[in-house]
Formats: sequence, C-alpha cells, structure tokens
Amino acid sequence: MRGSQLLSRIVAAALACASMQGAACAQPADAAAFGKRVYHDKAVCSYCHGWAADGAGEGQSSGGAADLRMTPLTRAQLIEVVKCGVPGKAMPHFDEAAYGDKRCYNSTEADLGTNTPPLPPGSVLSQREIEAVVDYLLAKVIGRGLITREECVEILGERVRSCADYPSGK
Ligand code: HEC
Repeated sequence: MRGSQLLSRIVAAALACASMQGAACAQPADAAAFGKRVYHDKAVCSYCHGWAADGAGEGQSSGGAADLRMTPLTRAQLIEVVKCGVPGKAMPHFDEAAYGDKRCYNSTEADLGTNTPPLPPGSVLSQREIEAVVDYLLAKVIGRGLITREECVEILGERVRSCADYPSGK
C-alpha cells in the first residue's frame, strides 16, 4: 500500500473511532492483542492446544486437543465451540452458564449427563472475551501453515532458544 493510502486509512479509522464512545472503539491491533492475552494467559487455551495452537499442549493436559491452525470452522461455529465446549470431549465450556439453560446445543446438564463438557482448568470468559479469542485465532492462527521461527519469537519472545528449531518463514 502506498504511504498516502495507508495514512488516509489510519485517519479514517481514527475518525470512525472518535465518533464512537469508549469501549466500542477498539483498534484492530489492540483487539488482536487482547484476544492473544485471553488465549495464552486468562483462558490458557495453550495448556491443551499448545502455544502455536497446533494441538500440542502440555503433557499434563487431557490431550487430544484440536489443531486450531487447520480448523475448518466459521467464526460463528468457533464462538459456539468456545462458549459451549464439545460434548463428550475434554474441550471445556467457557460460558459459565452454558448448560444451566438450553443456550448450548439446545441441551442442559441434565440432558447431557456425563457427556456435559467440563468447566475450564483456568478462568471462564465473558462473551466479549470469547469473541476476542476467536478473532485472534482468525487473524493470527487459522490457516497460518507451518510454525516458523518468526511466529515462535513473536509469541514466546526473543529469549526462547528453542525457537531456533523452527525454519525461518522469510
Ligand atoms: C482442557 C483442555 C482444553 C482447553 C483448556 C481448551 N481446549 Fe479447545 N479443545 C480441546 C479438545 C480435546 C478438543 C477436541 C474436541 C474434539 O475431539 O472434537 C478441542 C477443540 C477445540 C475447537 C474445535 C476445533 C475443530 O476444528 O473442531 C476449538 C475452536 C477450540 N478447541 C478452541 C479453544 C479455545 C479458543 C480455548 C481457550 C479459550 C480452548 N479451546 C481451550 C481441549 C481444550
């Protein structure tokens, strides 16, 4: 993109932002950073899915987590899975009240019994946090292909020496 085009986009975004009030005005970069913090810190999705979301989580996790880099799910489906979990599997429900009523898969805990997805090992999430983590996956993870050295450094930081084990994507 030419410099002047880029500048006019930034100005347009800033104006759109100024016309909105407070919280509704999140810049895309901030939104991705917020979703990233939810993924790695608040919800520790990485515990099961791995830092690169390829399904290689921690040894102590329940295992068998999906490779999110390859998921075919749409944004709406991703939001549903994060809110509701996957019945009969280790994928937790991050909406605390998911099975108190029929909002998830039209089922309550009484309907699903032992197939009810578990509560998360870390924190439950608000609707806003759920959407942010899904938008982070859509923006930075899904369809990204092989893990590269640059992605490793971007997520884990310069000092992680094992990043050198990944091929450079440059
Ligand atoms: C306790 C372990 C665990 C945690 C924590 C966890 N997941 Fe999962 N997740 C799983 C497992 C296991 C599956 C595979 C379920 C299956 O076999 O269908 C899964 C599946 C998924 C899927 C469906 C992918 C597909 O293509 O079907 C999505 C999306 C997902 N997880 C996102 C997340 C996000 C985002 C977080 C954090 C907010 C998270 N998960 C936290 C274990 C976990």
